[in-house]
Amino acid sequence: METPSAAASSRRELQPPSPLLLLGLLLSALCLRPGLGLYTVNTVYGDTIILPCHVEVPNDLMFGKWKYEIANKASAFIAFRSAIKKNVQYDDVPEYKDRLTLSENYTLSITNARIGDEKKFVCMLVTGDNVFEEATIVKVFKQPSQPEIINQANFLETEQLKMLGECIAKDGYPEGNLTWFKNGVVLQPVEGAVIITEQTNVDKASGLFTVTSSLEYKPTKADTNAQFTCTVTYFGPTGQETIRSESVVFDIHYPTEKVNIQVLSQKNAITEGDNITLKCSGNGNPPPQQFLFYIPGEPEPIQSSSLYILTDVRRNATGEYRCSLTDESLVDSTIITVHYLDLSLTPSGEVIKQIGEALPVSCTISSSRNATVLWLKDNKRMRSSPSFSSLHYQDAGNYICETTLQEVEGLKKSEILTLIVQGKPQIKMSKKTGPDGSHKVIACQVEGFPKPVVQWTMSGGAINKAKETNFVNGKFISKIEIAPEENVTVTCIAENQLERTVTSMNVSAISFREPDEPEEKNDGNRESVNDQAKLIVGIVVGLLLAALVAGVAYWLYMKKSKDVNGESEKEAAQNIQTLPRSASKHVDKDLGNIEENKKLEENNHKSEA
Ligand SMILES: *[C@@H]1O[C@H](CO)[C@@H](O)[C@H](O)[C@H]1NC(C)=O
Ligand SMILES: *[C@@H]1O[C@H](CO)[C@@H](O)[C@H](O)[C@H]1NC(C)=O
Ligand SMILES: *[C@@H]1O[C@H](CO)[C@@H](O)[C@H](O)[C@H]1NC(C)=O
Ligand SMILES: *[C@@H]1O[C@H](CO)[C@@H](O)[C@H](O)[C@H]1NC(C)=O
Ligand SMILES: *[C@@H]1O[C@H](CO)[C@@H](O)[C@H](O)[C@H]1NC(C)=O
Ligand SMILES: *[C@@H]1O[C@H](CO)[C@@H](O)[C@H](O)[C@H]1NC(C)=O
Ligand SMILES: *[C@@H]1O[C@H](CO)[C@@H](O)[C@H](O)[C@H]1NC(C)=O
Repeated sequence: METPSAAASSRRELQPPSPLLLLGLLLSALCLRPGLGLYTVNTVYGDTIILPCHVEVPNDLMFGKWKYEIANKASAFIAFRSAIKKNVQYDDVPEYKDRLTLSENYTLSITNARIGDEKKFVCMLVTGDNVFEEATIVKVFKQPSQPEIINQANFLETEQLKMLGECIAKDGYPEGNLTWFKNGVVLQPVEGAVIITEQTNVDKASGLFTVTSSLEYKPTKADTNAQFTCTVTYFGPTGQETIRSESVVFDIHYPTEKVNIQVLSQKNAITEGDNITLKCSGNGNPPPQQFLFYIPGEPEPIQSSSLYILTDVRRNATGEYRCSLTDESLVDSTIITVHYLDLSLTPSGEVIKQIGEALPVSCTISSSRNATVLWLKDNKRMRSSPSFSSLHYQDAGNYICETTLQEVEGLKKSEILTLIVQGKPQIKMSKKTGPDGSHKVIACQVEGFPKPVVQWTMSGGAINKAKETNFVNGKFISKIEIAPEENVTVTCIAENQLERTVTSMNVSAISFREPDEPEEKNDGNRESVNDQAKLIVGIVVGLLLAALVAGVAYWLYMKKSKDVNGESEKEAAQNIQTLPRSASKHVDKDLGNIEENKKLEENNHKSEA
């Protein structure tokens, strides 16, 4: 292959004719001719070397010959072509046996170029009186194999100088250079951190070079994922070339510098009964596999893999949880709060109480956070918590104390108090004459729980036509209508499981007109202490008022003593009516009470239990 552009090649201007004939030929065959300008042929290893003669063929050519020369050694003829006989002969040189072809224009071809062919070949054309010569240098190039990183380290460790691997590029010629790269940047030797050692081996048979470069490397954490490559740089027939290896990433081991404890939970807040998974991790590579867990209440740390599970936790699991490496270094901690909510309602369930009794109620909350309390009575929200100093029938019902922990989803508790207020029957009787005077209405207002059953009797005989109002808050009214021909005694009997109460009232005959004001009848035995106190106050006030009214009436009577009796009575009634309406009512009522009380004291009704 002719490369006139190659720097090494130059053309000799003139071939000075040798004055010697065969002698000169002989001498030139034996002697070196340094300093002559030379042609160069670059050939790829294994290709055919084509060596043109570079001498213009003279007309009187006798023969042509090719020889090679090696420094400090005798040259050797290898091929001959006779211009006259047109025959070709190849010399018996073992190295070139069956590899040579000398064409008619004296171009010599050598097949299967090898490193040993790097010689100076000389073409000689011989005429009767002259010898013409041209020398050509043969250069052979062999591209090395793609470099490979072999004997790779399984892992590297920070702060440790370690053999990372060897870069090898095989069978190149001429010898190439190896260069290491990290992330595309050339790795320069650094004392104690980057140590590169090169080695070259020559294959004796082929003359090819195998170059090896070992790299000892001390990595840092930043070398995680770093790509290591190496290149071989070599000279090819057309100049310098480079082949790069595949890149290799090394596992960089480094110690844990920080541990981390985590609570794995689907929920935001942990409540009693939950399972807690604690996860401990370290930031080293490889990550640590074993940890010590410090659990509140456990005297010794517990060695475990990175997960530690607490099942069905209770409130006493609240506390600080820690984990460390197994050598007890590098600790991390977390606080766990196990939420709870307890509610205790006293009394609760079904509670039966007597009217007028006191009932303290308490709903006690114990929880991990401030909880809100809500009271419901018969599913209606109450303004405040219930408490009873004296029970009324309307206090009966279903009470619910309910509490929730806002922060903790689904944490809600409630308890029920079903309050039943019982009371013996109490009766108030009254009578009224119908508007047309044809009948009288006798009413019996009954209080008691469970609901008393009312029976009516009139002068010994039973009456069945009673009408009843709804039973509300332990009260109802039973009414009968009668039109007695003569004075009768009407009896109202109210009975529940606690007591039987009987009250009677004298009713005059329908023909007899009596005052229409309701005449209340109480059975005296059932009054509570409180009510009796009220009654006494009422009596005192009533007596004072009665005295006042009597005084006024007497004064009026004295003033109009001349007038007729009936008229003066009428006027007195009118004067009473001029009092303010509410006051008049009060007077009426209290007057009634006086009368009533007198009668009660007189008759002192009996009751049966
Ligand atoms: C010499 O001959 C060979 C083949 O016979 C041919 O390929 C080559 O081009 C020739 N060289 C010159 C310089 O004429
Ligand atoms: C090889 O390296 C040496 C020294 O660094 C340099 O002189 C030479 O040119 C290099 N050879 C190749 C083929 O790069
Ligand atoms: C807790 O774990 C146990 C088994 O370890 C399981 O039976 C139970 O259902 C879990 N409890 C919860 C609330 O997930
Ligand atoms: C927590 O309380 C439960 C009972 O509620 C008991 O079995 C357990 O041992 C206690 N744990 C600790 C650490 O005190
Ligand atoms: C709980 O309630 C108390 C008293 O009402 C109050 O001082 C405290 O700040 C509350 N705590 C929270 C966490 O709301
Ligand atoms: C009803 O009248 C009788 C006499 O007729 C009398 O003995 C009794 O005390 C009276 N009862 C009432 C409640 O007034
Ligand atoms: C009926 O009672 C009234 C008073 O309530 C009385 O004046 C009258 O005499 C009585 N009649 C009989 C028949 O007893």
